[in-house]
Amino acid sequence: GLPTRVRIHEVGARDGLQNEQTVVPTEIKAEFIHRLAAAGLPTVEATSFVHPKWVPQLADAEQLFPLLDDLDPQRLPVLVPNERGLDRALALGARRIAVFGSATESFAKANLNRTVDEALAMFAPVVARAKDAGVHVRGYLSMCFGDPWEGPVPVAQTVRVCRALLDLGCDELSLGDTIGVATPGHVQSLLAALGEAQVPASRIGVHFHDTYGQALANTFAALQHGITTIDASAGGLGGCPYAKSATGNLATEDLVWMLHGLGIETGVDLDRLTATSVWMAGVLGRPSPSRTLRALSHQ
Ligand code: HMG
Ligand code: MG
Repeated sequence: GLPTRVRIHEVGARDGLQNEQTVVPTEIKAEFIHRLAAAGLPTVEATSFVHPKWVPQLADAEQLFPLLDDLDPQRLPVLVPNERGLDRALALGARRIAVFGSATESFAKANLNRTVDEALAMFAPVVARAKDAGVHVRGYLSMCFGDPWEGPVPVAQTVRVCRALLDLGCDELSLGDTIGVATPGHVQSLLAALGEAQVPASRIGVHFHDTYGQALANTFAALQHGITTIDASAGGLGGCPYAKSATGNLATEDLVWMLHGLGIETGVDLDRLTATSVWMAGVLGRPSPSRTLRALSHQ
């Protein structure tokens, strides 16, 4: 049967905003994160400690993170690509980090200026030092299903890099469908292959983008496989600056509507979440693509 409770990993303030051309003021980001946490989202990814030239929108990580010091840092994961990023994150008291690898060579090059294996080598000391410091480590893996340059990605290729991230010491994986091309059968195949590779469902999260309208169907396939960590972005904000065809993430409102309809607990107050996303759509000056949000807010 389906799980009774799901942990939503909210990525709106990071994946959602990182692709916005106009830089959102730091105070607005802090308010967004506070409102998402107050809406009951247990985990609200806050920012990235990456090179500021690579992702200008998140260049204010040093200014933003201290504005969140009333929240438990266990609720505020941050992205960290290398030891420089880890130093910056630890100096501010971050307690949950994520490294971010790629299943494909093209995206590893575009996103990290590394081959797949060079990126893994870059992460090795990051994960080791984080674990020594008692910091929880997520291992994102992009292009798990398809890649804009390479096309469909073979399951075995993705499983190899998943295994490598776990062998480095990552506590959990997040399987990224960066460009939203996955369909439910492919999700089932990958999750079955990970099961055969002895990766328990409890250590797997799924990260769907809704480019082709498949994110909820893919999520349902993951639920049937026992996955209980699901990434989503408030209002369906998002994309990835280094993958042109990546559009919005699965909208948190759409996800919550489906989960609550299935009787699956999330702890999220959908009214408060909706009000937050309506406010953010106003800040960004355009309506949200989330169907649930539009229906609930008559946008
Ligand atoms: P590089 O150019 O190869 O960097 O970039 P480098 O290691 O050669 O260093 C060059 C300079 O950058 C040095 O400075 C470093 O100190 C500095 P210099 O000595 O020349 O003055 N530097 C840094 N500065 C601040 N913070 C740092 C840092 N690292 C180096 N952490 C690098 C390599 C990894 C830095 C770069 O490629 C980068 O920042 N990439 C980040 C890209 C990114 O954030 N992408 C979006 C997130 S991934 C995503 O969205 C997908 C996901 O949502 C899942 C999915 O949907 O698939 C997670
Ligand atoms: Mg993403």
